[in-house]
Amino acid sequence: MKAVIPAAGLGTRFLPATKAQPKEMLPVFNKPTIQYVVEEAVSSGIDDILIITGKGKRTIEDHFDRSFELELSLRNSGKIEALKEIEAISDMADIYYVRQKKQKGLGDAISTAKNHIDGEPFAVLLGDTIAQSNVPCTKQLMDIFYKYEATTIAVEKVPEEKIERYGIIKGSCISDSVYKIEDMVEKPSISQAPSNLAITGRYILVPEIFDHIKEVEPGVGGEIQLTDAMKSLDESYGYVFEGKIYDIGNTFEWLKSSIEIALTDDNVKYDLRQYLMELLK
Ligand code: G1P
Repeated sequence: MKAVIPAAGLGTRFLPATKAQPKEMLPVFNKPTIQYVVEEAVSSGIDDILIITGKGKRTIEDHFDRSFELELSLRNSGKIEALKEIEAISDMADIYYVRQKKQKGLGDAISTAKNHIDGEPFAVLLGDTIAQSNVPCTKQLMDIFYKYEATTIAVEKVPEEKIERYGIIKGSCISDSVYKIEDMVEKPSISQAPSNLAITGRYILVPEIFDHIKEVEPGVGGEIQLTDAMKSLDESYGYVFEGKIYDIGNTFEWLKSSIEIALTDDNVKYDLRQYLMELLK
């Protein structure tokens, strides 16, 4: 299975930090956000990744490319551990790029992947969203996808005040954590939301989605919404995956993710815990 990582959005929720740099390159603890996303795809067994970029996103390509000067300098100064880490980033997967020429929404971004996908089911991992779990979120979705052979979306129960930020599904629970989807609405108001199950940025899509995207009219925000295209698929499932999701496009979520991920790192967790305890005394 191939993966598609949309990373073309403007990052308007995180200005001024994203004025001249892609939100997907914002570091979370010690790595850019999109590196976590690529690592999730790779650890799910995917080695062919298409990143959808746009204007101002060139540093994403540089990050996953070789960096000969840096490698040489690290080698010459004997920093072999750092060298290995840098080389691993460019060796991780076969990464391809396509540019979305106009910001016309997530559905439109996905449609630029059609030729690369070539008629097979594929995974979508939003480039500004980190999923932390023991079994990678995309791998969990793939398992559900192969069981039901239909579009499968990661969903998460969200508190009422967050509903307006997400696509929300309506579904009936058919087995542990799996919902058969009956309807979905992009960014509904609380009163119009059919449930509190939010679409979280990880999908396994069938290739028919490209025809459905072509048919949809601009929706919320005047954009071609992936949610609207998925709604007309014959069959789809929502899966409450085991793990945690961080939407980095949101300042507070980004801050939380950096702290929580740092608290899992052996080199800093002790000092950070001490520091936070002192700070909050
Ligand atoms: C997109 C999707 C939305 C989903 C969200 C998850 O919205 O359109 O359905 O719930 O990602 O982060 P965006 O955040 O790009 O506006």
